[in-house]
Amino acid sequence: MRDAQPTAIYLKDYQQPDYWIERTELTFELQDEYTLVTTLLDLVRNDQAADGADLLLAGQDLELISLVLDGQTLTTEQYELGDESLTVKGIQQRSQLAITTRIYPAKNTALEGLYRSGGMYCTQCEAEGFRRITYYLDRPDVMSVFTTHIIADAAQFPVLLSNGNLIADSVDNGLHKVTWHDPHKKPAYLFALVAGDLRVKEDRFTTMNGRDVALKIFVEPQNIDKTDYALDALKRSMRWDEEVYGREYDLDIFMIVAVDDFNMGAMENKGLNIFNSSCVLANPATATDAAYQRIEAIVAHEYFHNWSGNRVTCRDWFQLSLKEGFTVFRDACFSADMNSATVKRIEDANIMRTVQFAEDGGPMAHPVQPDSFIEISNFYTVTIYEKGAEVVGMLHKILGKDGFRKGSDLYFDRHDGQAVTIYDFVQAMEDANGVDLTLFKRWYKQAGTPLVTVSSEYDADAQQLRLTLTQRCPDTPGQSNKLPQWIPVQLGLIGANGKDLAIHVEPASAWTESSQVLHLTEAEQTFVFSDVAEQPRLSLFRDFSAPVKVEFEQSADDLLFLLQYDSDGFNRWDAGQRLLLSWINAAQQGNFELRPEVREVFARLLADESLDPAMVSCLLTLPSEAYVAEFSAEVDPLAIHAARKQVHQAIAESLSEEFAACYQRLQSEAPYAPEPAQMSARSLKNLALAYWVKGSTVGLQQAVSQYRSADNMTDQMAALVAVVNSGDAAQAEQLLADFYQQWSQDALVVNQWLSVQAGSAELGKVEFIQQLLAHTAFDWRNPNKVRSVLGAFANQALCHFHREDGAGYRLLADAVLRLNDSNPQIAARLLTPLTKWRRLVPQLSELMKAELQRIMQHGALSKDVYEVVSKSLI
Ligand code: PHE
Ligand code: ZN
Repeated sequence: MRDAQPTAIYLKDYQQPDYWIERTELTFELQDEYTLVTTLLDLVRNDQAADGADLLLAGQDLELISLVLDGQTLTTEQYELGDESLTVKGIQQRSQLAITTRIYPAKNTALEGLYRSGGMYCTQCEAEGFRRITYYLDRPDVMSVFTTHIIADAAQFPVLLSNGNLIADSVDNGLHKVTWHDPHKKPAYLFALVAGDLRVKEDRFTTMNGRDVALKIFVEPQNIDKTDYALDALKRSMRWDEEVYGREYDLDIFMIVAVDDFNMGAMENKGLNIFNSSCVLANPATATDAAYQRIEAIVAHEYFHNWSGNRVTCRDWFQLSLKEGFTVFRDACFSADMNSATVKRIEDANIMRTVQFAEDGGPMAHPVQPDSFIEISNFYTVTIYEKGAEVVGMLHKILGKDGFRKGSDLYFDRHDGQAVTIYDFVQAMEDANGVDLTLFKRWYKQAGTPLVTVSSEYDADAQQLRLTLTQRCPDTPGQSNKLPQWIPVQLGLIGANGKDLAIHVEPASAWTESSQVLHLTEAEQTFVFSDVAEQPRLSLFRDFSAPVKVEFEQSADDLLFLLQYDSDGFNRWDAGQRLLLSWINAAQQGNFELRPEVREVFARLLADESLDPAMVSCLLTLPSEAYVAEFSAEVDPLAIHAARKQVHQAIAESLSEEFAACYQRLQSEAPYAPEPAQMSARSLKNLALAYWVKGSTVGLQQAVSQYRSADNMTDQMAALVAVVNSGDAAQAEQLLADFYQQWSQDALVVNQWLSVQAGSAELGKVEFIQQLLAHTAFDWRNPNKVRSVLGAFANQALCHFHREDGAGYRLLADAVLRLNDSNPQIAARLLTPLTKWRRLVPQLSELMKAELQRIMQHGALSKDVYEVVSKSLI
């Protein structure tokens, strides 16, 4: 908790530390009440530091037991203990410092540092958790070689893990003692320790140069039958990184541990990745296809960090996107290669448009390389991760596949073992390709989503098309008058036969033929296409080639054409979404009607067996309420809900037979497997079911029967959701009770059960959420449960969250205040929906703002919550 007003830290103030730590030797004695940590540091003074400079270490919630410098126990005059720091005087050019601290893992509810989760111990050190273990130079530019001794009761803790290789392991006198040594130097945020009574699933992997690597997944005993898929995904990731990036694994062992209490998805600790159990455990009966795909992506993401993050790390936390943006880009390409690339692109664009654009347009907007923060935990954002990945993806488009690979090779070779900046990454791309990316770097500095406007003019006589593009980027907190950015516009001109026309464009220097990309680099540019024999339809920003908003009037007929014939799958989807969005907007004005020719197109798509079913499923999925909101000037959540529902109902009713037929066609006798073709078929089958349930009572019966006969969670859950959404309350209640009965012993499934209810427009009323919070299945200390109920409610059950009397906002604000003390990171994350108050219709806006003010008035706000609330109210 803070005592004074929290202050911001600035990128411009970055300075190297006065000391480096060559070697770190840690000893953990795990005892019931507390843990003793002894730290031996081999310090070396930085050449740039003054002689006799003090050593300033960070520490938080630590009890200092002893301090020994070069063999001498220090007295209180020789050091200074601050609230969150320890200053030691008298350090030589080379010194050894021994520090003993006592910590209380069982009382650690913030889940940073060393804490207990169920019967096990685990750590989370990114970003600044290591300082809750011992006093340290807890900053990513201090890289050290770690040796870790762990001593614990042998009966309770047969498994004791840390980074690197196991070099000693013994049991004596009932005590289990191990030593781990990690030969790769690393910053403290990559340190990890795990202790528990765990089962292990093992496999092996031989790297491209013949290194034999032991792969191990550690889980609590009841979960041992949920490890196969993650192990398989891990091996595929390891191979893929060799093939696509030439990057090989560098230790003889790679471990993953699943823990139930975890603030985030997973963590890339060197050689010892720690995962939220929801992001690693799966079997067909308990995990949906979506969960399998998430697991595949996260296992890959954490594995890929071994190079993009660990071997080459960040100089400071302002460079967070250096590792996260790049690694998300890498895992997205991996997922695209394993499954449908188009569907993956659609999912990512959807997240950008609904979540990232909202962040970029709100009070927490920040550049991909932020220039200040109060609490770094608040900056693990969609901007750092997803927009950061989009920026890397634009470099990939600009440089091409081979050019990008040359750049990444140079980057890894040049900076191996270093802590570097985002610009070092760009520099490597420049040097490897001989290009100047000065202009491109604005993507890292400027917050906000650029708006591109489009106008075009066709001259039939001259066979010319003039395309004028303008860009401007709105002001964001602390930033105005932005400069034009380098926007790659991948495009096609489509002829009446649906085929792309050849492109001849002036200025030729603005066009890259190989990637079909036009480079928009100025505030306004006109491009002239010649030899255009017919008036084409424009397909712009294919493959979502830049994270921008586009203002482009295209007729409903043009959109319908693109939906059917564009050779770019992403733009087929985009055209469809624009159409659907226009209907939802029309419904809000009270004049929506499903035209017969549109109905025919949808019917044809549903019946077209040449298309990837998952793609058809994307094409026919309505934009979410959050997506619609993001495309509205002033957000009226209740009107959006009603309008979307009306459009959904109209489609369901007019195509009810087609949905039924599609559903029947996609029934399969094959035993369940989480493999791409099956997952794709199931996604369309279950979309068809969801519509069919709305369009006819036969559909509802079918959903109930699918629920009863399902042998896998994908089908069981889809049927349950369809029944819940059908509006048949009695039937829904019965299935929900049955589901809980069946799965009450499986925490991950119970979380899905909580979230289906809390996020549902049919059920998620405020009073009902309060009941869920009081249910035995709920636990305030477990972040997954908090997300399942409160996250689902505030982000999905929008018609209840935005209740006219503000009760939904009050519920969320109460939860934030409750979690503020126990788990500030989770509290701050829960706040996100409340930061959007300025976008709402006036009455709701006032009510939401009042809740933020109420939080602000609360006495002892954590830095995390303080930063989000105070910035939201400015
Ligand atoms: N570095 C982790 C990842 O993205 C995320 C994380 C951040 C986990 C902070 C825990 C704490 O892979
Ligand atoms: Zn990451």
